[in-house]
Amino acid sequence: MSENFVVTATAPVNIATIKYWGKKDEKLIIPVNDSISATLSSDYMCAKTTIAISPNFEKDQIWLNGIEESIENPRLLNCIRNIKNKAKIGTDKLKWKIHICSENNFPTAAGLASSSAGYACLVYALSHIYNVKENISDIARQGSGSACRSIYGGFVQWYTGIKNDGSDSIALQLAPASHWPEMRVIILVVNDKQKKTSSTIGMQRTVETSKLLHYRVKYCVQGHIDKMIQAIKNKNFDLFAEITMRDSNQFHAVCLDTYPPAIYMNDTSHAIASFVHEYNAAANSYKVAYTFDAGPNACLFTLEKNVPALLYTITKVFPTSGSVKDYITGIPINIENKSINAPEINISMQSDLLKYVIYTKVGEGPTLLPDTESLLNREGLPLRLA
Ligand code: DP6
Repeated sequence: MSENFVVTATAPVNIATIKYWGKKDEKLIIPVNDSISATLSSDYMCAKTTIAISPNFEKDQIWLNGIEESIENPRLLNCIRNIKNKAKIGTDKLKWKIHICSENNFPTAAGLASSSAGYACLVYALSHIYNVKENISDIARQGSGSACRSIYGGFVQWYTGIKNDGSDSIALQLAPASHWPEMRVIILVVNDKQKKTSSTIGMQRTVETSKLLHYRVKYCVQGHIDKMIQAIKNKNFDLFAEITMRDSNQFHAVCLDTYPPAIYMNDTSHAIASFVHEYNAAANSYKVAYTFDAGPNACLFTLEKNVPALLYTITKVFPTSGSVKDYITGIPINIENKSINAPEINISMQSDLLKYVIYTKVGEGPTLLPDTESLLNREGLPLRLA
């Protein structure tokens, strides 16, 4: 396959602290408001994608997590077409068929923002295959809105923009991860069997039926955005924590105001939110903040110095029937240490409300990987199938 062009890349997940919810243009994916997110380290959660183009391939093909899927997905085709429109390679190569193989290094079923990493990775890898140098976040946006923020590391803002064609609805980095190196993230993966409305459908219904969304967009989001930028610039965790929680709560209020309601948080999610408020109250300061997306899992933000006591308390309040070693994945940490000084909390929930806990941090944007990391073999077929 000497004529093949092959690129392998990884891209991170991002978690919004100011939520994107609602589009003013469904096709172009232009949001009704700006949003801000933190990009998570790719060490523990990321998408990995290999893309190859070759004159020998008979048709375009895509494999996701080892299963062949239809390439006829309008969002996917849009991303490929938009990148090709900006391509700077020979026109013969633009006609070559494409093979795409993508995997997540965390369970997709966990309901963690996998589409943001997946589309960011796809578009980033495509931009390298087709030699596109411009800002590609507006193309990633057309795969999945939140994906445009995964094009950058650290703290990222996605601007709504004012143009009808969406060309200024792009993401830009507010600050790199190194600006606030103490920031840590703990994801509580909640056990849940309920099938949830997808964010795409949920937000569409919200735009159509919720007056509260219009109130949020008109009177609240800009204030949250300004305060969040200030909190990040000044590394003010108290402000960061308060605004993150307020914005998450307002987003879920808007979901509840949707008719019929879009309910994403479950009893365990609400127990986690109460726990966070009690923990902060017992410590007499902001130690931790929660945010919830379109599912029951909690994403907690905290500072490195608070992690041992917080994780220790989480294992007491939300116990596992298995071993603590398997319960907490991600950055290695020892919470058995007797000297841990955790605030007194008098809540204890039943075992196994959480599936597991991922301890991670804010990290960098997408990166290229060496050929040895390719997910496709020399014939352009997946090395692993499910
Ligand atoms: C709650 O980006 O998944 O996570 O643009 O329709 O693909 P589409 O939606 P998606 O929505 C994410 C919603 C959210 C909030 C956020 O990430 O800002």
